Amino acid sequence: MNGSNKTVFSIFGGTGDLTHRKLLPALFDLFVLEEITVSNFQLLIIGRREYTSDIYREQARVSIEKYARFNKKKELYDQFLAIMTYVQVDYTTLDDYVKLKEAIQTQGCRHLFYLAVAPSSFSTITTNLKLSKIVDDSCEKQLLIEKPFGDDLASAIQINDEIKQVFDEEEIYRIDHYLAKEMIINILTIRFSNQVFKSLWNKESIENIQISITEQVGVGDRGGYYDTSGALKDMFQSHLIQMLTYVLMDEPKSMSPQDIHHAQEKVIDYLELADTEHFSDSFVRGQYLANKDSSGYLEENRIHPESETETFVAMEIRSNNTSLEGIPIYVRTGKRMEKQETVVAITFKHPEGFMAKNAPQNVLVIRVGPDEGIYFKVNIKRPGNYDEIQSVTMDFCQSCIYENRLNTPQAYERLLMMALRNDRTLFTSWKMARQSWELTEEIQKRSQIANIPLTNYLAYTQGPIKAWEILQKNGHEWYTEDIFMNQ
Ligand code: BG6
Repeated sequence: MNGSNKTVFSIFGGTGDLTHRKLLPALFDLFVLEEITVSNFQLLIIGRREYTSDIYREQARVSIEKYARFNKKKELYDQFLAIMTYVQVDYTTLDDYVKLKEAIQTQGCRHLFYLAVAPSSFSTITTNLKLSKIVDDSCEKQLLIEKPFGDDLASAIQINDEIKQVFDEEEIYRIDHYLAKEMIINILTIRFSNQVFKSLWNKESIENIQISITEQVGVGDRGGYYDTSGALKDMFQSHLIQMLTYVLMDEPKSMSPQDIHHAQEKVIDYLELADTEHFSDSFVRGQYLANKDSSGYLEENRIHPESETETFVAMEIRSNNTSLEGIPIYVRTGKRMEKQETVVAITFKHPEGFMAKNAPQNVLVIRVGPDEGIYFKVNIKRPGNYDEIQSVTMDFCQSCIYENRLNTPQAYERLLMMALRNDRTLFTSWKMARQSWELTEEIQKRSQIANIPLTNYLAYTQGPIKAWEILQKNGHEWYTEDIFMNQ
């Protein structure tokens, strides 16, 4: 090997949307923070199109200006753009890798490969990297891949087996960008650094847990992918399960990747679905219909006109071996919903004792996005009336204080920085990915056996009424800010 000893970061799928909207802006932000520098980093953009590096750099400039959090630092644009080189490679053609080999190996002996391509291409690329001898054991190597890791359990196993021929588990960084969201990481801090929550996070004190990701967006231009996936595979299999692991895990021994992953894996192992006989009371799948402001799912681009793909799921699930054993855990996610909102809501049990009768329940709400913060509902005496209880909120709005996005790193920036530092804590282990697929397929199986129908809901509403019935049977209701604030 000759040349300098830089970290060489190669992006396959370098002309795609993910690269322009997330990766280039995140890398620029890391450049501004001097996590990467001209002397220690080289960026190779790999694409099929006939671009020169200069043409590509101009497109990259536009994306950085549009999406980077430090986009005002225009004086650094040229220096950053100079560390990128465009390499025209058809990644399905082994012969093309000769060009890549030359570009990579003249730069350095630490190689990161980011596959911003469909999972079905992962192993084609890793195999070609091996056959072309771009990767071997003489240099440090890392592989970064994005969810979905396959489109079902069988394909996930196959892809994993194939990439493991080239990369070891410790070299594979599976990205679920939810795990890098500020308030999701914060779940662990809130839970384990406050005695008040630490001591109450158990089945004796908590009545129910809700995790809700509602999106106003529809499927946009991703119809081709989404129609083969649906809400269960697209959101539950990854983001919702990851959030569940943080909310339900028993305290890990440390924050090391091994201990955190172990705690997460244990949560997934012990998640329990309703049996098939009762499954229809605990699981709802829906699809949005047109209303005056929006077309329906079936009218969207690249959606089969008779598609049965769900754009909404809600379910009740339980944990059977953590300190939260047996309490109802409700999760839901949907597109074209009334609100864009990701929250975790923990409702505590009614207190016991003589004042309990009129006391509303304590609720802790962790707002993940778009507003970030936490609030906690507590009871006090209504001023003036000695026997009347009033529910008030202790509200910490993180996004109001750190109101401009300059203060908090965005998810991809954090993930790339952690990968560069060889820290796998926020990445998904293979065991978790496999467990998540197993659970998701079990849900699909039970849903088929129980013959769960597709329930329609109007676009920009709160989703199917049936999703409320899941909670009503236990005397609960979905958390919404309006209900919460009006008490
Ligand atoms: C992606 C899903 O993983 O996450 C999308 O494929 C979804 O369908 C997106 O819209 C939501 O991410 P965020 O960060 O906007 O909540």
